[in-house]
Amino acid sequence: MMQNDRNHVRAEQQPAAPHAAQAPAADTRHEPMSLPPDALIIVPVRNIVLFPGIVLPLSLGRPKSIAAAQEAARRERPIGVLLQREPEADDPAPEQMYRTGTLGGILRYVTAQDGTHHVVCQGEQRFRVLEFLDGYPFMVARIERIEEPDDRTPETEARLFHLKERALEALQLLPQVPPELISTVQSVSSPSTGADMVASFMDLKPEEKQEVLETLDVRRRLDRVIELLNYRIEILKLSRDIGQQTRDSMEGRQREYILREQLKAIQKELGEGEGTAAEIQELEKAIAEAGMPPEVEEQARKELKRLERMPEAAAEYSMVRTYLDWLIELPWSKLSEDAIDITEARRILDEDHYGLDKIKRRILEYLAVRKLNPTGKSPILCFVGPPGVGKTSLGQSIARATGRKFVRASLGGVHDEAEIRGHRRTYIGALPGNIIQGIRKAGTRNPVFMLDEMDKLGAGFHGDPSSALLEVLDPEQNSTFRDNYLAVPFDLSQVMFIGTANVLDGIPGPLRDRMEVIELPSYTEDEKVEIARRYLVRRQLEANGLTPEQAEISDEAIRAIVRDYTREAGVRNLERLIGSVFRNLAVRIAEGQVEHVRIGPEDLHGILGPRRFEDEVAMRTSVPGVATGLAWTPVGGDILFVEATRVPGSGKLILTGQLGDVMKESAQAALSLIKSRAGELGIAESLFEKSDIHVHVPAGAIPKDGPSAGVAMFTALVSLLTGRCARSDTAMTGEISLRGLVLPVGGIKEKVLAAHRAGIRRVMLPARNRKDFEDIPESARNDLEFVWLERVDDATAAALSGSHTQGAERAEPMPASAG
Ligand SMILES: Nc1ncnc2c1ncn2[C@@H]1O[C@H](COP(=O)(O)OP(=O)(O)OP(=O)(O)O)[C@@H](O)[C@H]1O
Ligand SMILES: [Mg+2]
Repeated sequence: MMQNDRNHVRAEQQPAAPHAAQAPAADTRHEPMSLPPDALIIVPVRNIVLFPGIVLPLSLGRPKSIAAAQEAARRERPIGVLLQREPEADDPAPEQMYRTGTLGGILRYVTAQDGTHHVVCQGEQRFRVLEFLDGYPFMVARIERIEEPDDRTPETEARLFHLKERALEALQLLPQVPPELISTVQSVSSPSTGADMVASFMDLKPEEKQEVLETLDVRRRLDRVIELLNYRIEILKLSRDIGQQTRDSMEGRQREYILREQLKAIQKELGEGEGTAAEIQELEKAIAEAGMPPEVEEQARKELKRLERMPEAAAEYSMVRTYLDWLIELPWSKLSEDAIDITEARRILDEDHYGLDKIKRRILEYLAVRKLNPTGKSPILCFVGPPGVGKTSLGQSIARATGRKFVRASLGGVHDEAEIRGHRRTYIGALPGNIIQGIRKAGTRNPVFMLDEMDKLGAGFHGDPSSALLEVLDPEQNSTFRDNYLAVPFDLSQVMFIGTANVLDGIPGPLRDRMEVIELPSYTEDEKVEIARRYLVRRQLEANGLTPEQAEISDEAIRAIVRDYTREAGVRNLERLIGSVFRNLAVRIAEGQVEHVRIGPEDLHGILGPRRFEDEVAMRTSVPGVATGLAWTPVGGDILFVEATRVPGSGKLILTGQLGDVMKESAQAALSLIKSRAGELGIAESLFEKSDIHVHVPAGAIPKDGPSAGVAMFTALVSLLTGRCARSDTAMTGEISLRGLVLPVGGIKEKVLAAHRAGIRRVMLPARNRKDFEDIPESARNDLEFVWLERVDDATAAALSGSHTQGAERAEPMPASAG
């Protein structure tokens, strides 16, 4: 735990890897153990005191501490950060611990690339240990939280004022203090927080900090911190004066040598700083070898000087050290040799991907242009298509074909500019943004860098992430990309950026304009079978340690998986399920039950369970209020469920599921239509007065707008209000008018194919779409029954089961939720 010995300090400085996990790995999961309600998981620390209101990174060195922090993170409970009386003890006994500590809320749990574990903790409240408990794999204690009542009295306010003044004075004496620290000190208004904050930032000995932590009387606490601070200021002044005098009388290196000696003497006096010299030397060497541009090298040396002057125990020391590690480890001048061989590239693309001819051709053109004119500004490619159609894996192939490294960053859910461009270093726990993290991971400055999920980029209040991305992608600007954390420019101009997105519409306009969009369509059933036969089966055999002699899977079985177990545009689930089949076989083969197995469609039930998709529809529509609709998407159709439910209320219509305006209107129209003919439908008018109707259309990836869900909305609502279930084998599409007519819609072919894929047997279409019947492929036409709708009553008559009266009775006593 952040102790002073060199190895640990090093480990602590290792910056968190980009793949830092929010929570510990799933495989460490075990049965939850029971803890008494007032018990707390304790993480013993050797030389750190966490104060309430302060955020600190802790490195976890000892296995027990890692287990403790993981357990707490899993339970979403704070840990108790408790100082050891004896810092050397590796497995401290209760009597080697102090009794007062601070509850630390876990903000982030990070497993760094080098395997070290860290937590970023927010100090919440002081606590006192009542008793340590035995029988846990880590330290656990029953504790009592220490409440700190409002402490504002004239006495404490006056002391706070004085403390702030002194603290600012001390900060002025320190070299290069971040301005944020100054403003934080200026703005603190609570006396107890003020004392804690200053104690936390000051480079005090751990025992001194512990003493401050244990001083609960705020007035006495302030006095003690002021006393410690005064002493510090004296030292700092002394050091400044020595510097002043010697600077006057000495020159150059001699002066520096003497200053350094004096500094060492002072630090020694304070019991700090021995052994830093070797570390500094090491860093100096690393800086010289990092191949930095002159501006960066200068900055690195400046920071190194600061580090040298800093006592090791200071919180800032670790910040500077981490920063230097980032500067040293970035590939400032490391390049993969760009060897583009078009024939070889074609071979690699074919080796990894089936079909996609047009796309492969475009990629080869792109590479050819790049080969002929390496310094030219080539366009940025953006692969757009549904999940699992090979966007990411095409990117990997491009990297392989060009001999570059491959890295990716997901932009999904990024709504803060800082995630792209990093946080300023003055912010505790700050790190560079996604881009620089990716570059460091790549280890070269010309990788293929995939920006995934560009359509899921958020826009937040902390700066717009898309404007930061624009800069990243702009060839005019990206040679001097400035990450907030690094605060020096990094040259991204050699990086080959590739974007990916599921839908084009989600990508912010200016970003879209900067890229060349390549659309990847969804695969047909035949293509999927072919991809599985040629690629996925081989890959999954290998992944599960099997040979083609041991295990086989028939084409019919593959087709059955495609049809009955997956409903996707791409092949990701297909690959996963083929994997499950082989895993199952691997067990049987390893146990010696069999030597060779060939899987046919009849074997799937035993391995993968019942067919999934018929079941999904059946399950969803097993309650009143759900109807199966059909959606058209730019990449093929899909089925979607319209779910309606009734909650106590006053007749409002609630719509959720990210519906577009037109779709919302069609829900409104469906409800009005029902109200206007409540009598005919056998629905009591009073139902509308005392309830709100909630219509939800789940499934995030389908764009949901347009009027074509009108019939499904109407059917779902009638189903809800009459208590009659919709038939699970039936899906529908069609716009409705307020007079109850069913109007024609577009995308009939794709919708019918989607229904077919999903195992639907009956499709209800607007009668006025009969002209589109010809477009529907024969196979689907033969398998499906078609119901042609003139009016909405045709829809309810054909789709809903059961009788009116029975349904109306069921619906009368108001259920909290019927859908
Ligand atoms: N045409 C193809 N030939 C061979 N394998 C393919 C093909 N298309 C996809 N795959 C395989 O399918 C899997 C999923 O593809 P990938 O991860 O690239 O999808 P994606 O388009 O990036 O999806 P997402 O939008 O979810 O990120 C990969 O293992 C990939 O190799
Ligand atoms: Mg992907």
